[in-house]
Amino acid sequence: MTAAPSTSGRVSFVGAGPGAADLITLRGAQRISEADIVIWAASLVHEDVLQHARPDAVVVNSAEHSMEGITHHYERAAAEGLLVARIHSGDPALWGGTQEQWELCRRLGLETEVIPGVSSFTAVAAIVQRELTIPEVAQSVVLTRLEGGKTPMPSKETVRSFAEHGTTMALFLSAARTKQLQDELLAAGSYDESTPCVVAYAATWPDELVFECTLGELAEEVKRHKLYKHTMVLVGPALASGGTRSHLYDPGHFHEHRKVEDQARRAELKARDKALKAAAGQ
Ligand SMILES: C[S@@+](CC[C@H](N)C(=O)[O-])C[C@H]1O[C@@H](n2cnc3c(N)ncnc32)[C@H](O)[C@@H]1O
Repeated sequence: MTAAPSTSGRVSFVGAGPGAADLITLRGAQRISEADIVIWAASLVHEDVLQHARPDAVVVNSAEHSMEGITHHYERAAAEGLLVARIHSGDPALWGGTQEQWELCRRLGLETEVIPGVSSFTAVAAIVQRELTIPEVAQSVVLTRLEGGKTPMPSKETVRSFAEHGTTMALFLSAARTKQLQDELLAAGSYDESTPCVVAYAATWPDELVFECTLGELAEEVKRHKLYKHTMVLVGPALASGGTRSHLYDPGHFHEHRKVEDQARRAELKARDKALKAAAGQ
């Protein structure tokens, strides 16, 4: 594939998805195939995504360099009008460290763009075939990490405070301190020892390990499997829910793409009316 013409040079921040090479978007794969320089982090991104790269592309493993170590590749791209694909795991908008790179690109006069990717938390939900939002059980998903690690957290963003909501949580970057994670999740009081969890190591990689356990078992199970990095924990009652029905597919619910089924719609309105009257104490 020949590179698209570029005068100023361009850096495409590409979300590579969770690992499997066919979970990258078509646009992401296209940008990698056009790139003169491909920068990727071997510690976070599976090498299979490099199969999209041109054989003559310069391939740089960013895990071996500091930010300064890759700056000269951006400088060269700016000087020679080259295309760079900077590959991120999952979606670049989540713990991607893209901010500092945009600033560098801007200083160098490089064009930038971001290609979204499949984040690891949705990949894990897909593996266990669970929905993270279930009517009347969980309608929000908290994406966060455990405080107390190397990266300082804003003081109000504690796992305990988010856990108070009792909704679905996806815990990134926290497997090295799972006992603390378990304690904080339980301390909020909305989950209990029986709350379901999904633990996924290297989801969609060839050595993927995914298992389910309860919150009471979490720390012990993670320790038993010797997981401390590249691991995602999902927690919340939605992971074990069944028997509820989505309003969207209810026959009484209509929208621009589906005409209401009259009888069902009338029944729904009647029930809603009754509920409103009951709430108003009539
Ligand atoms: C630096 S963050 C990057 C997150 C990424 N941007 C995303 O959207 O998934 C790395 C953390 O994401 C999670 N993660 C990323 N890929 C994963 C995978 N394939 N399996 C399990 N967890 C993964 C782990 O918690 C890991 O410690």
